[in-house]
Amino acid sequence: MPGSFFTGTTFLLTGGLFIMANESVHNQAPAKRSGFATALGALIATLGSAIGLGNIWKFPYLTGENGGAAFLVLYLLATFLVGLPVMISEILLGRAGRANVITTMRKLSPSPRQPWWLIGAAGALSAFLIMAFYTEVAGWVFAYVVRSLTSNILSTDPQVTLQTFNALVSDPFQSLLWQWVVLILVGGIITFGVAKGIEATTKRLIPLLFILLLIVDVRALTLPGAGAGLAFLFKPDFSKISTTAALIALGLAFFKLSIGMGAMITYGSYWKDDQNIPSTTLRVVLSDLAVSLLAGIAIFPVVFTYGFEPAAGTKLLFITLPAVFAQMPLGNVFIFLFFLLTSFAATGAMVSLVEVLVAFANEQFHLSRKAATWITVGLLALVGSTAALSNSTLAGFTPFGKTLFDLYDFVTSNVLLPVGGLFIAIFVGWVLKPEQVIAQLTNGGTLSNHGVVRVFLFVVRYISPLLVLVVLLDSLGVF
Ligand code: PHE
Repeated sequence: MPGSFFTGTTFLLTGGLFIMANESVHNQAPAKRSGFATALGALIATLGSAIGLGNIWKFPYLTGENGGAAFLVLYLLATFLVGLPVMISEILLGRAGRANVITTMRKLSPSPRQPWWLIGAAGALSAFLIMAFYTEVAGWVFAYVVRSLTSNILSTDPQVTLQTFNALVSDPFQSLLWQWVVLILVGGIITFGVAKGIEATTKRLIPLLFILLLIVDVRALTLPGAGAGLAFLFKPDFSKISTTAALIALGLAFFKLSIGMGAMITYGSYWKDDQNIPSTTLRVVLSDLAVSLLAGIAIFPVVFTYGFEPAAGTKLLFITLPAVFAQMPLGNVFIFLFFLLTSFAATGAMVSLVEVLVAFANEQFHLSRKAATWITVGLLALVGSTAALSNSTLAGFTPFGKTLFDLYDFVTSNVLLPVGGLFIAIFVGWVLKPEQVIAQLTNGGTLSNHGVVRVFLFVVRYISPLLVLVVLLDSLGVF
């Protein structure tokens, strides 16, 4: 019976998530540094940074554009051979430094003359450029939240859903307005500080998003095109593997896990001393992957049932979802909830991005948190507007053959984050003393995970940097 199947699956998957969330919940001693009150808070906030539009919007659209399952294979390789080790590296650096990115890198580098703090500076640039387009996509999500209340956006006709989307993005006024709404909201959350702002917003919402995705998936899987959709997502056609796809998969792994630019160094600084870094990070990575797959399973059956274009690009999520909800009882309510939860997930991710910028401004320019936040928000409104207007006023402005929106998206995921990740891996693998790495990963020898640590050290030294380097050089046409 579909009902019992559904509750069973929900229970299994969300159960996993809650077990993960409950790890070391018994340990409630306050953290040394101001930040999250509990280990649970630190863990959930880390998930809150990772899970966002990268999972729900970017993963499906890039998988659709790059040939489906073959791309998924590349993505999995990138996640486990590069993403996971780099994420562990960042968290351990953060917990060892217990400060913002720049101070941490200064503190941990063997000599003050070595400019490792540049990782922090480059990370701030990445955060800024990501926010410039991310706020726009988040703005679309917010607009869909309101739209789903004020009008009927459900339809299985690709022309109709496309029209709804185009009406939004080609209107310069609405594009800017929604971006500002997003920016003001994020600025407000940051002004209230780490513990209160982030912990409160992300705590309960990730499991809810998970459950809602499951509900949508059950409906999507009972559509006539479900078989074709699943085959697209899970049956690889290896002729579609290319080096361009490899670079995009690598960039997606960095983007989705919020790595390569210091966000996870900042978050690692809030992790508690007794938290098991490798195993907890693995759980974050697996949950992040699960959310992406659930989003893919919601979308591709719709694509193949109603004749959408899998390679529709950045609009894929927005044009396909109204079709699956159109086929559900109470579809209007569910689509509202879906975009609402997505807006929360996106907000958690944006908070972590702005947190990087605020910490940077705070450290480099000695601005107060409040001033740093609102100056950042103002600058983001300025630069972000060039992304917001790239479907309307600035549609004709395409340096390097891309709109500014696409350019910020491409440069951050495919250049800045991988390069940042490369240096982080090199730093942890070759510059930091192995004893220091081992002490962090075994919690000063109290964990019996020496095998895991040995594998980690090998991968972070040889495999991750080499893979990033080969993929980057290859995409530049060096080979
Ligand atoms: N990981 C976030 C997402 O998937 C985006 C992000 C990237 C957040 C880099 C912080 C840093 O939406």
